[in-house]
Amino acid sequence: MLQDLVDLGRYPIDRPGSRAYDQMIADLRRELDQDGCAVLPGFVHEEGLQQLVREADDVAPRAHRSFNRTNAYFTKDDPRFGIGHPIRRFYDRSNAFVPADNFPASGPLRRIYEYEWFMPFVRDALNEPEDRFFRYDDPLADVIINVVEEGQGFPWHFDTNNFTVTLAIQNGDSGGTFEYVPNLRTSDDENFKAVASILDGNRARVRELELQPGDLQVFKGRYALHRVAPVAGTRSRYVGIFSFVEAEGMCGGVERTRQLYGRVLPHHHEREGLRKDQLLD
Ligand SMILES: [Fe+2]
Repeated sequence: MLQDLVDLGRYPIDRPGSRAYDQMIADLRRELDQDGCAVLPGFVHEEGLQQLVREADDVAPRAHRSFNRTNAYFTKDDPRFGIGHPIRRFYDRSNAFVPADNFPASGPLRRIYEYEWFMPFVRDALNEPEDRFFRYDDPLADVIINVVEEGQGFPWHFDTNNFTVTLAIQNGDSGGTFEYVPNLRTSDDENFKAVASILDGNRARVRELELQPGDLQVFKGRYALHRVAPVAGTRSRYVGIFSFVEAEGMCGGVERTRQLYGRVLPHHHEREGLRKDQLLD
């Protein structure tokens, strides 16, 4: 059970079929329909948060820090496209992920991810059928912590996975605002023109979100361009990331996995080329 971590009174994810559950799902679906993003404030209560912060502090030194330049698709430059095309626009990325194999089944973060009612609840919120909703089959990336230190953020990008569920664990002293543009691309249309406009600084469609520790966020990151503004102050920002995908066996690509985690496993090579759509990454 998860009472020691999650506020199950406020968020009855373990009581599907109850009126309270149905109301919660209806609220989340409305938020997701409107802009591809829903937030559950205080999903993890104060005592649970203490466990999560302790775990995050313990594993934070094992984060893979990467300092490189990346485009929004995590691909290499492609000179077939003209200067100014989004594929050819690279930004500094300085970030750190604690790979998924640092979170044991007995620890608080993976206990939430693997809790029997957690995936069904997220799937219900996203209104996805059972045969199109799976945990991410990536042993380095299914459940991770993003560590953001002073001056760091994460530039505009699309996620590899279709749905991401994040848990705010600790904020920096200031900064770290989550910014996103809902429904910017689809599985068959990259919408490069609109992406270029946002990279140029057009804020008309950009939404800002200030998440507090304990807040759970359900986000459709594969189709929404998003970024994290730089964090200020000495305290690190910790965000747990739970990933779910629409096809069984989906796994990160070799190139991107190497960028984010500093290593790849045989699993990643085996799965390369089995991707089911034509998006860049
Ligand atoms: Fe992302």
